[in-house]
Amino acid sequence: MTGRSPDAPLRIALLGLGTVAREVARALTERVNELRLVTGGRELQLVVLGVRDPGRSRGLELPPDLRLTDDLADVAGSPDADVVVELLGGLDPAEGLLRHALESGHGVITANKALLARRGLRLEALARSRELPLRFEAAVGGGIPILGPLASDLAANRWSSVRAILNGTTNYILSAMADQGQPYADVLADAQARGYAEADPAGDVEGRDAADKLAILTRFAFGSWIDVDAIPRAPDGLDGPGRPGISGVTGGDLARAREAGLMIRLLAQASRVDGELRVSVVPTAVATGGGFGRTDGVENRIELRGEPIGRVAFSGPGAGGGATSSAVLGDLIAIARGAGSSWAGLPPAIPARLVADAGRLDGSGPTLRTDTTRYPVLEEQPL
Ligand code: HSE
Repeated sequence: MTGRSPDAPLRIALLGLGTVAREVARALTERVNELRLVTGGRELQLVVLGVRDPGRSRGLELPPDLRLTDDLADVAGSPDADVVVELLGGLDPAEGLLRHALESGHGVITANKALLARRGLRLEALARSRELPLRFEAAVGGGIPILGPLASDLAANRWSSVRAILNGTTNYILSAMADQGQPYADVLADAQARGYAEADPAGDVEGRDAADKLAILTRFAFGSWIDVDAIPRAPDGLDGPGRPGISGVTGGDLARAREAGLMIRLLAQASRVDGELRVSVVPTAVATGGGFGRTDGVENRIELRGEPIGRVAFSGPGAGGGATSSAVLGDLIAIARGAGSSWAGLPPAIPARLVADAGRLDGSGPTLRTDTTRYPVLEEQPL
C-alpha cells in the first residue's frame, strides 16, 4: 500500500464469490462512478478475483480487465493490488491468506468472524506491527455499523454491559416459528435460501456464530480478545445444560412464552463485574414489546450500557448479501480515505479474567424463571 499516490485508484483483490462477495463485486462493477464521489475522487478498482471454482463467476457482470484465478495465495500476495478483501470464511486457509496479504504489504478487509474470534489477537498484532489497516465491520451485525462507533464516536465511554441479538438466521427462525407456527426445518431451509445461514447452519443454530461475534464485540467494548470456546451456549436446565443455541427450543416453548407476553431470543451477553468479564449466548425470554422482542426476522440489535452515555442501541439487518456488502464497501471507502484499522485509536488488547456465565443476567443474582418458560427472563427497562 505504501508509495502510491493518495489519488491513485485503490486496487482491490477479492477472495471468494459467495453471497456477500457477489454483492461487493456487483457494486464495484456497476457503481464505480457513484462510489468515487464518497472516496474523495479515488476509484475503487477491482483488479483480481480469487475463487476456488472459477465457474462460480458465471452470470455476474464483472469489470472487463479483471483477472480471475483459483490461485488464492497468488491473489493474497498480488503485487498489482493495494488491499485484499477476504470473504471465503473458515479458519484455514483464510488465516494463512490474510497473513500473506499483510506480509506482502496489503491492507486487509474481512467478514470472517470465526477467524477473528479465534485468531484476532495474533492478526491484530501482525497488522499493528506492519502498520497496515485490518478492517472487519461486516463481521458483527451484518450491515449495522458497530465497531466503527465503538472505536471512535463512543470511545470515551466505560462500558459495563453488552446485550445483543447477533445472529440473523436464528432470529429469523424464532420469529417465523413463533408468528406463523412454521416447523423448524422449513424455516431453516427458507433462511438458507435467503443467504442468511452459514455454509454449515449448525454454527448458527448452536450459537457458535453469535459467540464469535460476541468475542469481537468484547474486544471492542472491554479491550480483550477472550477464549470464544469458553462462552457458554447451552441454557442451564434442571438436569444440567440444555442443547446449545436454539437447537433445543420447541414450538411449545415459543407458544407458552407468547401466552405470557414473552418471546424467546438467542441473547448474547457480556458484562464487566468487579474486573471480571462474564459472557454467555443462550436462549432468553424477553418482553414481546421490548427492544429485543420487537427485533424480528433477520434483524440484529446491540445494546450497550456505559458511562457517561447511559444506554445506547443499534439495530438493523444482521445478515444477507446486500446488507453485509454495505459494511465491506464502507471499509473499502475508509481505506481509500486513508483510515487505519477497525480498532482505530483503541489501545492493543490486554488479557482478561473470564467467567463463563450461562444462567445469570448482568453477572449478578440467580437465573430468573417463571412457570411459563424454562429460559432465563430478561427484565428490560424502556430505552
Ligand atoms: N449466518 C450469519 C447470521 C450471517 O445468520 O447472522 C451474518 O453474519
